[in-house]
Amino acid sequence: MGEVSLRVLNVVGARPNLMKIAPLVEEMRRWRDIEQRLLHTGQHYDDNMSQVFFDELGIPRPDVYLGVGSGSHAEQTARVMIGFEQVLLREQPDVVVVVGDVNSTLACAITAAKVGVPLAHVEAGLRSFDRTMPEEINRLVTDALADLLFTTSRDADENLLREGVDPKKIFFVGNVMIDTLLRHRERARSLGTPARFGLQPGHYALLTLHRPSNVDDPKILHGILEALVEIQRELPILFPVHPRTAGRLREFGLEGGLPAASDLRLIEPLGYLEFLDLMMHALVVLTDSGGIQEETTILGIPCLTLRENTERPITVTEGTNILVGSDPGRILAEVRRILNGESKAGRIPELWDGHAAQRIVAILRQYN
Ligand code: UD1
Repeated sequence: MGEVSLRVLNVVGARPNLMKIAPLVEEMRRWRDIEQRLLHTGQHYDDNMSQVFFDELGIPRPDVYLGVGSGSHAEQTARVMIGFEQVLLREQPDVVVVVGDVNSTLACAITAAKVGVPLAHVEAGLRSFDRTMPEEINRLVTDALADLLFTTSRDADENLLREGVDPKKIFFVGNVMIDTLLRHRERARSLGTPARFGLQPGHYALLTLHRPSNVDDPKILHGILEALVEIQRELPILFPVHPRTAGRLREFGLEGGLPAASDLRLIEPLGYLEFLDLMMHALVVLTDSGGIQEETTILGIPCLTLRENTERPITVTEGTNILVGSDPGRILAEVRRILNGESKAGRIPELWDGHAAQRIVAILRQYN
């Protein structure tokens, strides 16, 4: 022992990748036969969208930073591919690990496949069956190219099998994002974040909104805001605003919030621990994020997802998630039910136990 026999290149690009890569990097660093290097594409670059998560989750500084920044889908994807190809040709890793479904995931998957480096996809097989969603395209292509597909739920395995993926490539391992949550839950719980925002535990809603389908269409965004104006009369809403959404609100002259809604409180994006603390103590979480549907399921906090579909159906069938779409009446009705004490109970999905990264790394070591 002691000799490096597996050289892994881990990839991150956007905020939701960071909580997924953290436990993988940590687990890989425990093994002397693994040499892991971390590449950040720079898809997300603001400190509060990237650096704060490195600091809080103890992710080492990236070995390579591509600095691609924002752009159209094609521009962003292409810039990552050009930069990543050079890195791959220079470093020749034994395996590339990509996580999630963002444009960086797709770009690095295509590049690895073309250069001929084996590709592992963590969080494979999730499908919303909605190809208007950019992430669905990213998931389909990444999974079609991956040599190892690590899944978080049985429904993901079924999706992959239906698409003709060789069962030998599919490994149901659990959820690395939940590894991170379980690891940091107690630390987050004691931060007193609700009080810092003048909120009482159990008596506020936490909101996130950033899907293009919700925020890029003025009619839909206005409808959602209408519902929020009503809700905040009964329950204060804390709204950490994603930069994409901030841009849209600026276009509508709403960057300071809505004059008629002083209890819809817009704040800057938060770090991981503060956000986790706020989720844990919320009466309800309203969101269009993917990951938050899973995190609320583990925390047992009611989640209303402002989308028509989800690639994470287990959060509905087993967890606390309800799909409410973007119809203001429906959103309001579901919040009122929760205010009346009728919230959905859930259970913890299989293998969401804090050990997914260990399982993945054990499989990677054997694969080599
Ligand atoms: C991306 C992912 C999405 C994920 C989300 C989480 C894709 C297709 N989408 O969406 O799946 O849920 O991240 O945050 O990959 N911006 C900043 N600072 C930053 C990053 C972005 O100001 O650090 C602004 C820019 O104006 C940019 C816009 O946000 O144009 C959107 O960023 P982008 O990376 O294109 O997509 P997201 O909406 O963040």
